[in-house]
Amino acid sequence: MTKQRVELNVNGEIHEIQVEPRKLLAYALRDECGLTGTHVGCDSSSCGCCVVVLDGETPVKSCTMFAVQAEGHDITTVEGLAQGGQLHPLQQGFWDQHGLQCGYCTPGMLMTSYAMLKEYPEPTEEDVRKFLSGNLCRCTGYNNIVKAVLQAAKALGAEKSEPETTAADD
Ligand code: FES
Ligand code: FES
Repeated sequence: MTKQRVELNVNGEIHEIQVEPRKLLAYALRDECGLTGTHVGCDSSSCGCCVVVLDGETPVKSCTMFAVQAEGHDITTVEGLAQGGQLHPLQQGFWDQHGLQCGYCTPGMLMTSYAMLKEYPEPTEEDVRKFLSGNLCRCTGYNNIVKAVLQAAKALGAEKSEPETTAADD
């Protein structure tokens, strides 16, 4: 099948790739962009391992989208969470609360939670469970995952309410 040139903007970096029109975004990210943090668990929209965030706020199962459809969107993958060597509060939450066992579902859990916290910065436990209902953990560590997301929500809220440093403070 003829390949098509596609430009993907992933984590702020442009990747120029050649893909068949039928290539799924999940595989384009992994095989063509070398971003293997996005996992493929089921390939059929059931597990949520492959979730990435489009345009900073929309969680998408990347096994349900063709790579060519993602052109023109900003894509955030799990590799884009940590900044300047600092874990994102969600990653820190998963670390502190032991929110992973084998880790296979973790990228999808993180990215779905990332999108949720944009929309609901102060989620209840019920909100978190509802939002993550499309993400399956075969190790069944759901309780710690929920605790991790709640910890991150608190940390992000605290970051926002910190007074900004002014020149006078230096
Ligand atoms: S791999 Fe996409 S939902 Fe399972
Ligand atoms: S930690 Fe193993 S699948 Fe979730």
